[in-house]
Order: sequence, then C-alpha cells, then structure tokens
Amino acid sequence: MFLFNLGVSIRAVNESMFNLREIAESIIRKPGVFLDETKLYPEYVPDVLPHREEQFKQLTKMFKHVIISPGSSSARVVLYGSLGTGKTATAISFGKVITRLASEKGVKLRYAHVNCASSKSALSVLREIKNQLGLSVPDRGLGFPEFAQALLKEMDMEDLYAVVTLDEFDSVLLNFKTEDKYSLVRFYDIFHSEVMRLNFIYISRMRLNDIIRTLDEISGSYMMRNTIVFNPYKSKELYDILKYRAEEAFYPGVVDSEVFEYISNLVGYDAGGDGNARKALAILYAAGKLAEKEIEEGRASRVLVEHVRAVSASEDLSLIHVLDSLNYLNIHQLLLLKSIALGLKETGSNYVSIGYVEDVYKRLCSSLGLEPRKHTQIYYYVSELASRGIVMTKKTLKGRRGRSSYVSFGAAPLDSLLNVLEKAIAMRREVGE
Ligand SMILES: Nc1ncnc2c1ncn2[C@@H]1O[C@H](COP(=O)(O)OP(=O)(O)OP(=O)(O)O)[C@@H](O)[C@H]1O
Ligand SMILES: [Mg+2]
Repeated sequence: MFLFNLGVSIRAVNESMFNLREIAESIIRKPGVFLDETKLYPEYVPDVLPHREEQFKQLTKMFKHVIISPGSSSARVVLYGSLGTGKTATAISFGKVITRLASEKGVKLRYAHVNCASSKSALSVLREIKNQLGLSVPDRGLGFPEFAQALLKEMDMEDLYAVVTLDEFDSVLLNFKTEDKYSLVRFYDIFHSEVMRLNFIYISRMRLNDIIRTLDEISGSYMMRNTIVFNPYKSKELYDILKYRAEEAFYPGVVDSEVFEYISNLVGYDAGGDGNARKALAILYAAGKLAEKEIEEGRASRVLVEHVRAVSASEDLSLIHVLDSLNYLNIHQLLLLKSIALGLKETGSNYVSIGYVEDVYKRLCSSLGLEPRKHTQIYYYVSELASRGIVMTKKTLKGRRGRSSYVSFGAAPLDSLLNVLEKAIAMRREVGE
C-alpha cells in the first residue's frame, strides 16, 4: 500500500520482488565468500599484472629478435627486486605471451622456468631445462659440456628455440662452483654457435652491485648489460593489484572496499611497508578465511577491515614468512615444516618436540619414497628455519645445556599453512627433486 502511495505500479513492485527473490536464491545457491580461493594462492599467475606493464615492455624489446630473426643472438636479461615484487609472475606471463606470438609466426619456441634453488650444479639446471623443453637427450653419465652439446644438437634437429628463466638465481651466484656460474651466465661463450637457440632470463633478489660481486669481471659486466628493476610496490599499486585479484577470488561485493585501502597502506613501500604483493595477498586471503568462518557462524556478513586487523595483528606473520620462503627451501625443509604443522595439529599444543616432528617427518619421507635426512641435519635445518624467522624454537628446561628441543609456528593458521605446504611439496615432486 505504501508503495502505491508513492506512485509505483504493481508491475514494478512485482519486478522488484522478483529481483529480490533472485538475489535471495542466488545467495542460497552459492553461499560463502570465495568464488575461487585458488586465485589467491601464491603460485597462481593471473592473466593481468597491473603496474608491471613497463617491465613487460622492456622484456619484449630485449627478446624481439626471438620472433623477428630467431637464432641471430641470445638474449640475456636480469630481473631484480625484493620479495614479492612480481618477478616470477612477470617472467611466466612473458613466457606464455612470447611462445604464443612465436607460434603464430611459425617459430617453434618453448618456455622453461627453472627454480635454481632446487639444483646443486649447472648440469642439474640443464637437465631440468631439457625436461621442461621436452627434449630427448640421454640423461646419464654425461658431464656438463657433453650434455650441453647434446642438448643444442637436439634443438638443432627439432629447429627449436627457447626462453629459459633461471629463477632463484641467487642460489647459483652464492652456492655454485665458479665454473658452473660461468657456464650459466656465459653459455654461448663456451658453446659457440651460429644459431643461438637459448635465451636467458635470470631472476635475483640481490642488488646489482651485490650480483656483480659474486662474479668475475667479464661475467659481471655481461649481467649488467640488460637489467630490469622491480621496485617494491607502492600503496596505490597494491590497491589496484588487490582489487583485481579480489575480483577473481571473491563473490562480487563480499569484500568491503576499505579492506583494499587498509592492506595496501599496511604493506605499501611508501607507507613504510616492504611493498611485497605476496604478503598483501596473503593478508587478504587470511582475512577472507576469517570472515568466511564468522559468516558461517552468523557473526559477520562481509570481509571487513576488522578482519584484516585481526589477522595482521595476531598471527599470520608466520604464514607470510612461510609463503616468502617456499621457493628457496628444499624439499626436506618443506617436509619438516609440514611435520611441525601436523605435529602441532595432532597434539593441539603451542609447541611440539623435535622428536615428535622427526617421527612425522620420517613417516612423510617414507610415504614419498624419499630417504630421510639424518638427525643432526634435521637439527641444522630447524635452526636455520628459526634463524630466518619462519619457526620459533625453545629449550626444554631453563639452564639445561643442549639444543632447542621444542618448535612452533607461533599463532599461524595451521590449515592454511598445511594447504600451501602441500602444494609446494607437490610442485617440487613434479620437478623431480
Ligand atoms: N602486478 C601484479 N598483479 C597481480 N598479482 C601480482 C602482481 N605482482 C605480484 N603479484 C602476485 O604476488 C605474488 C608474488 O609475486 P611473485 O612470485 O612474482 O614475486 P617475486 O618477485 O618472484 O618474489 P620472490 O623474490 O619472493 O620470488 C604472486 O602470487 C603474484 O601472482
Ligand atoms: Mg619469485
């Protein structure tokens, strides 16, 4: 009646009721917060990378010849910048785009993305490249030079070109033998060839001066020639990134728009944060998970700033540390982290003994068919994880001599941790570590 008084026709009322009914039905049909939470997982590479257009352009310029006159030279470029600045995501996206462009032009080009932190030598890096390029080169018994020659020959036979990203290249610069570093940085100085089929992208978190310090003069000057910097993200940039990623991950309207502003001010470089997009996305994800729980319990209806405040104040720092370290930890360290998380979950306590962790770890190793590391090595790994701030340790009794015997993640959400660890371990298994 009230509506009639306002002059609204019956038809309009019916229509609006119908709309309301549709809305109600759609909510009941699809309850929840996340449309697709995997879109917020750290390893997911989105189709668009806001604020990395410039880096993308620079990469394209440096690799132009791969399409225009393939084989005429070998590109070599260093992407450098701090944690979570989009280096890996940009390289992977570039790989997708350039291989598609090449195939449209009739150039046979493939992309390989190697995490050097899971390799110990130039030979094992090259083996991984060979696997990802799908080449059939006999794998056993050959040294680096013979293997490289065989690989190049196979590429000649198949008339194949490649863009190869050597990600986590710091681990090569800091841990590999001098000649192995040299082989990966100056590949075509060793293997002269008229047709240069391999092109390299090196990814580093070090500053240029520090990169050069790990190399001899010539190699250093090579590495300096083509570089692309990835600066830490500013608040405004993170705002756009979060908003875009949220559109993919959440139902429309579920996230209060102030949430993006709040997180970007927390993490933005210009606001005193470290400009790490992975961290910003992890906070958004954790806030979403918390809101989801509260919505189920009828205590909230959307993702709000208070959820962000709760996750960023209380915990999740451990989760973020783990996320940041996933790339450079080896599979045994990842399995140890998983064992700690499982141990804490099974015992329901704040700390779990290393003995307990070791038992879980052995179980995990045997289920994966891996040889577990020795007791002393496990202690070493745990203390290393502690010194990086990924886990916390404490000794049994005050004053007692000996090593730390209890370990914890602080207040990190164990299910989220287990979730990301599971994926990282599966990925490492895929690359055959
Ligand atoms: N411009 C962007 N737009 C959307 N998502 C982004 C952007 N930059 C980074 N991300 C996301 O942030 C996370 C971290 O990015 P990425 O892994 O590429 O960082 P990185 O520079 O390689 O960091 P690290 O040095 O720690 O390996 C990823 O989940 C990535 O998808
Ligand atoms: Mg990376």
